[in-house]
Amino acid sequence: EMMSNLSGIRQLEHDLKQLMGIAEVIVIPGDSDTATFVKEELGKACADRLKSSLNKDNIIAVTGGTTMACTAEMLTDELGEKRKLLFVPARGGIGEDVKNQANVICATMAENTGGSHRVLYVPDQVGREVYESLLKEPAIKEILQLIKASNIVLHGIGDAITMAGRRRTSTSSMKKISEENAVGEAFGYYFNENGEIVHKVPTIGLQISDLHVGRKVIAVAGGKSKAKAIKAYMKSAPDQTVLITDEGAAREILKVH
Ligand code: F6P
Repeated sequence: EMMSNLSGIRQLEHDLKQLMGIAEVIVIPGDSDTATFVKEELGKACADRLKSSLNKDNIIAVTGGTTMACTAEMLTDELGEKRKLLFVPARGGIGEDVKNQANVICATMAENTGGSHRVLYVPDQVGREVYESLLKEPAIKEILQLIKASNIVLHGIGDAITMAGRRRTSTSSMKKISEENAVGEAFGYYFNENGEIVHKVPTIGLQISDLHVGRKVIAVAGGKSKAKAIKAYMKSAPDQTVLITDEGAAREILKVH
C-alpha cells in the first residue's frame, strides 16, 4: 500500500538519487498511471525546478509527449518575468499526435510564460537524401543552431514498446526494438535494461551526446508502468540530470511497496 507521507517521499528521493547517480530526484506522491492530477503535479514540479535553473537569457529545448504537454499547461508568466525565454523543440518530428508534438508544446510554453518559440519543420521518418537537403536550408540551419545553443533541456521518458506502438514505427524497426529488448525511450532513442542505445529514430536536432556537455537537463516521467524505462534510461543519463517522477514509478524501481 502507498505510504504518501513526507519522510517516506524524501527517502525515495534519496534512494533513487543514490541508485541512479544523478544530480537530483524529486518524487511526487501518487501514481500518474492512475490519477491525472499526479501528472499535473509533475508538471508543476517541473515548472518550479525550471524556475531555479533559469538565467537572464534562456534557450530551452523541449521534447514531445503527454507529460511535456501537461507541463506546458503548468507554466505561468511568473517564469518569464525579467528574463528571456526561447522555447525550441529538441528534435525533429518523431511521430507524435499534433497536440503532443514538441513544436506545439513549445508554442504553449511560450504563450504561458510570455516567452517566444521557434518551430522546426521536419517531416517524420524521411530518407537520408531529404534530410541532407533539409540540413542545407538556411531556416533549418538557423533553428538547429539555436537548439545546439540551448542551456536547458526538458524531456520525457517513455516505455519502449508503448512508444514504438504510439509512433508509426516500421515493421523492421519494431522487430529490432523487441529483439534487442528495448525497455526505455527518450529523444527518439531506445535503450535496453543496461542503458545501451539499441535503436534510434533518424531525425535532426539534439543528439543524446549533446546532453552531456554543459546543459541543465530536467527529465519528467512518472507512473508505475514507466519504472523499467526510467531505470534503464538513467543508467546512461548525464550526471547533471534532475529527475522529476512520482511515487508509483519510484516504488516500483526501488521495489518498496
Ligand atoms: O515522443 C516524444 C517523447 O518525449 C518520447 O521521447 C518519450 O518517450 C515520450 O514522448 C513520453 O511521452 P508521455 O509523456 O506521453 O509518456
